[in-house]
Amino acid sequence: MSLSIQDLKASLEDGTEILKGVSLDIPKGEVHAIMGPNGSGKSTLSKVIAGHESYEVTGGNVTLDGEDILDMGIDERSRAGIFLAFQYPAEVPGVSNANFIRAALQARLAEGEEIDAVAYYKDLYDKMDLLEMDRKFTARAVNEGFSGGEKKRNEILQMLMLEPKYCIMDETDSGLDIDALKVVAKGVNAMRSPDRGFLLITHYQRLLDYIKPDHVHVMADGKIVKSGGPELALELEEKGYDFLKELVPA
Ligand SMILES: Nc1ncnc2c1ncn2[C@@H]1O[C@H](COP(=O)(O)OP(=O)(O)O)[C@@H](O)[C@H]1O
Ligand SMILES: [Mg+2]
Repeated sequence: MSLSIQDLKASLEDGTEILKGVSLDIPKGEVHAIMGPNGSGKSTLSKVIAGHESYEVTGGNVTLDGEDILDMGIDERSRAGIFLAFQYPAEVPGVSNANFIRAALQARLAEGEEIDAVAYYKDLYDKMDLLEMDRKFTARAVNEGFSGGEKKRNEILQMLMLEPKYCIMDETDSGLDIDALKVVAKGVNAMRSPDRGFLLITHYQRLLDYIKPDHVHVMADGKIVKSGGPELALELEEKGYDFLKELVPA
């Protein structure tokens, strides 16, 4: 059982190729981290997996527990168990946080099934407590006027509530102070399970002090150019991406 990406190629609408053959297998139970310089295609990879329409897949495969997901729309992939915490979470004016999450959960139920409101709010409040989020965030419009750190925390709240099979987090640590980072890590660690895989995109080794990855990959120029264990993140922090010059000729 894994989220498996094989030789994935994707381009912008104007034909510019961004992903140039990415292969990555994320078995359930594992945490994989992707690091790499700005503009290497990390966010594009996460959005292509989630099914964003602004990219055209020109080659390769993405399978979720053996099922091809590339023909699925964004909502269908979400219901199949993929969750993407965005680098820049969108605001949803006029929709309260509590109703937004509830609607997402309701969409996963069979026809005629209804969410139990009491159980829903209990679960929501428990998870907000875990993330040290004030209850006032249930009534506020999704991400509207939230600080950068509050938006990131809210993405993790959605993730905790939806209990996806595969969690992709795009620079969730960027813009967080150290206390918020620890809280986010606590939320993620609470979700770690043999039934769930994680892909963490990060610029900083420090997130990986709190969420221990099983594997670390380096992405450059639309490809994974190096893979290793947690020690690779430490090495990158120390030495930077200079070594890429040898691996990716200009
Ligand atoms: N929708 C888009 N329109 C134009 N350029 C894009 C778009 N999405 C990505 N790119 C370009 O693709 C490259 C990779 O971007 P991105 O995936 O955001 O990199 P990373 O997340 O690694 O910093 C960048 O050069 C970026 O400008
Ligand atoms: Mg990015």
